[in-house]
Amino acid sequence: MIYVFGGIKGGVGKTTICLNFIAYLASINKRDVLLVDADDQETATDYTAWRDNTLGGDIGYTAIKLAGDAIRMQIPNLKKKYDDIVIDTGGRDTISQRSALSVANIYLVPFYPRSFDFWTITKVEHLVDEIRSINPDLQVLSFLNRADLRSADNRDTADALRECKDIVYIDKPILNRKCFSNASGRGLSVFEITPRDEKAISELTGLFENLTKEYASA
Ligand SMILES: Nc1ncnc2c1ncn2[C@@H]1O[C@H](COP(=O)(O)OP(=O)(O)OP(=O)(O)O)[C@@H](O)[C@H]1O
Ligand SMILES: [Mg+2]
Repeated sequence: MIYVFGGIKGGVGKTTICLNFIAYLASINKRDVLLVDADDQETATDYTAWRDNTLGGDIGYTAIKLAGDAIRMQIPNLKKKYDDIVIDTGGRDTISQRSALSVANIYLVPFYPRSFDFWTITKVEHLVDEIRSINPDLQVLSFLNRADLRSADNRDTADALRECKDIVYIDKPILNRKCFSNASGRGLSVFEITPRDEKAISELTGLFENLTKEYASA
């Protein structure tokens, strides 16, 4: 499966959830996974360097950097060598993001439940419309990240996401939790840090299980 984390909005947690997802995939059934950093900010690459430092080499996945058309050209070949490929893109409509979407199976778009952020959904819908003309089977999934426990914004954003045609809303919100920055600052996933944040682990597992069982098997 080829997964792309993206969207049209910066800072919603694409890279954070992507890096936790790759650790999750690598831990289940020892899958052979490839992380592709397709964002010129190189956050995933920096994280991987920290991870290598923290874990002393055994990081659990292979990481590369690709940009622009090279993604579209190289992924079909890399696909033969890995069980899963996870691509992190930036929060803008870039050639790299389009290139990744043209060869992907699943496009994951996190939303921060605030009204300004939600407005970008229309732009995501337009982008998906265009991409589907070359990749008609692309599945597009949205979910809430950095949600608050009790906030009307969560409900309003979730309701609006459910309304989107062609984009499936996964009702497994990830709450705003301190452990995410604690973990990524050390090059670790939330599954790997101590003390464990069981609530965050349970939310992430819920989202990832849903993703891999309901959609990746389709
Ligand atoms: N669920 C969460 N709870 C708390 N903090 C979070 C959560 N998800 C992400 N963050 C924090 O939000 C900030 C932005 O996250 P991240 O870099 O993953 O966003 P991004 O969408 O990849 O940004 P960009 O568009 O710049 O690539 C980081 O400081 C990260 O630690
Ligand atoms: Mg990012």
